Amino acid sequence: METEILKSTQIQEAADFLAQGQLVAFPTETVYGLGADATRPDVVKDVYAAKGRPSDNPLIVHVSSPEMVWEYADNSYKPLAEKLMNAFWPGPLTIIMPIQPGKLSKAVTGGLTTAAFRMPNNKATLNLIKTFGKPIVGPSANTSGKPSPTLAKHVYHDLHDKIAAILDDGPTKIGVESTVIDLSADVPTILRPGMIDSDDLLKVIDNVNSDHHKVSAGEVPKAPGMKYKHYAPKAQVIIVDDVNDFKQAIAEYGAKNVSMGVMATDEILQEVPENVSTYSLGKDVISASRNLFAGLRQLDSQNVQYILAQGFSDEGHGAAYSNRLNKSAGNTHYKN
Ligand code: TXA
Ligand code: MG
Repeated sequence: METEILKSTQIQEAADFLAQGQLVAFPTETVYGLGADATRPDVVKDVYAAKGRPSDNPLIVHVSSPEMVWEYADNSYKPLAEKLMNAFWPGPLTIIMPIQPGKLSKAVTGGLTTAAFRMPNNKATLNLIKTFGKPIVGPSANTSGKPSPTLAKHVYHDLHDKIAAILDDGPTKIGVESTVIDLSADVPTILRPGMIDSDDLLKVIDNVNSDHHKVSAGEVPKAPGMKYKHYAPKAQVIIVDDVNDFKQAIAEYGAKNVSMGVMATDEILQEVPENVSTYSLGKDVISASRNLFAGLRQLDSQNVQYILAQGFSDEGHGAAYSNRLNKSAGNTHYKN
């Protein structure tokens, strides 16, 4: 199948593909998603096949309004959910709630009695869902296990012979996936950290458990997707937590005669020898989050064996960056 690259104004074309039961990648403020009609199990199955994703890993239902959610979710957490929707939607917050029986297929929920809902902050995609008239499922539009796509060309690279179209709206603004909060737990629980952190959430609701996604060895994570290998480039990623260690780390790997790339802020990159491949993370953890996945993909395309990547504190807005980088590195940290 020849994948069409659509301009962000070609909403009707994209909606027509969805109506024909085809897959269309769509932009969001976080990463590109792989869209399909959420009400058709046969089409949702194609999403898993295109990504190579395990079928017990449920998908996010993307809506263009809070009202669309209540056609599927039951009302048990409505007051709490509405507080969050009013404060953060459209935006990078995914809300997990119990659903009305029979309203969403097992292909979407992975057989759970809950589902994940999100209203993304992207004009083209909100228009697309509105025009289509139904919610669309959307996992990140990458091959399962690879870094999530923050540019249309990343989607094209991974999925070009497998999907009908990509709605191209340029680079995504946030770069890491949405915060996932589970309202059906005893205490509202962050299952996946994102740019909306626990302090942001605590301004709106009384209680948030934010320790849960720090899963220790042997535990089964509650968001099924958190247990799989993720965001892994071909290269081995090594996290350099202390910026003062970069010089030594580069010298050490240089002496081993291996090819390496360095992903760090501009300040650090100034000190890196010219024969080493580099990718700029910008100036702080916010720009680093935006650039992380593109950097991993870029250095991978240069076939480096090792990527030395700058670590940041996992507090607050650094939680998402640290979580994704740790997964891409298989928790490998540089020790001097
Ligand atoms: O920013 C994002 O959230 C992007 C864009 C495209 O919207 N989407 C995304 O989807 O990251 P995906 O499928 O890669 O991640 C969804 C996460 C997975 O970890 C999945 O296991 C979890 O949400 N999830 C979905 N439904 C769930 C449920 N009912 N209970 C627990 N976890 C659930
Ligand atoms: Mg994903």
